[in-house]
Amino acid sequence: MTRDLMYQDEIRGIVRDAYAAIPSGAGAVVAERLYSPEVLDEMPSEAVEWALGVGDPVAGADLGTGETVLDLGCGGGIDAIFAARAVGAAGQVIGVDLLEEMCERARAAAARAGVAGWTEFRPGAIEGIPLPDESVDVVVSNGVLNLSARKSRALAEIFRVLRPGGRISITDLVVDDELPPEVLTSEAAWAG
Ligand SMILES: C[S@@+](CC[C@H](N)C(=O)[O-])C[C@H]1O[C@@H](n2cnc3c(N)ncnc32)[C@H](O)[C@@H]1O
Repeated sequence: MTRDLMYQDEIRGIVRDAYAAIPSGAGAVVAERLYSPEVLDEMPSEAVEWALGVGDPVAGADLGTGETVLDLGCGGGIDAIFAARAVGAAGQVIGVDLLEEMCERARAAAARAGVAGWTEFRPGAIEGIPLPDESVDVVVSNGVLNLSARKSRALAEIFRVLRPGGRISITDLVVDDELPPEVLTSEAAWAG
């Protein structure tokens, strides 16, 4: 048990270090692949430059006015800003990220986008979401669950914070086969 938890802690440290080391601007090429030029034109450049996802979870979330949305592993805030625009000032968007510096970037981008009044960004882990039970309508997440060594714990947390009838929209990487030990123990594979 202790060894297992230490291993999970080690993976989280590897992921944290990898994302803390990413240079500013690395996300622009990612954003161009995932979102249309029209929507990127209306997004603050810092959010575009920190886009590090693998899809567009807000597009599939069918968000409505006034809903409360949680963006897990929000990074620089691009999806949280899309969500904030979709739910409007009557709604609320909460971004959670392991790194405080990602939360700071997301706060600055949300302010530039004019949605700061109904967005907030909290440092925290998806395996221990810093929110009460049954407090959000929709969970979105983009490229984050694959980085967790405790995916079932993260999923249990998502179901804990969702209100009855809540929804999830997750874009992520999946494997449909066993990974070889050299991949399972590769720091680059975990972080990437
Ligand atoms: C691939 S990036 C995606 C960022 C953002 N969702 C996007 O689409 O631009 C992964 C993000 O998840 C954060 N992260 C990684 N593991 C996490 C965890 N266990 N709990 C919370 N955030 C985590 C990283 O700090 C990073 O900002």
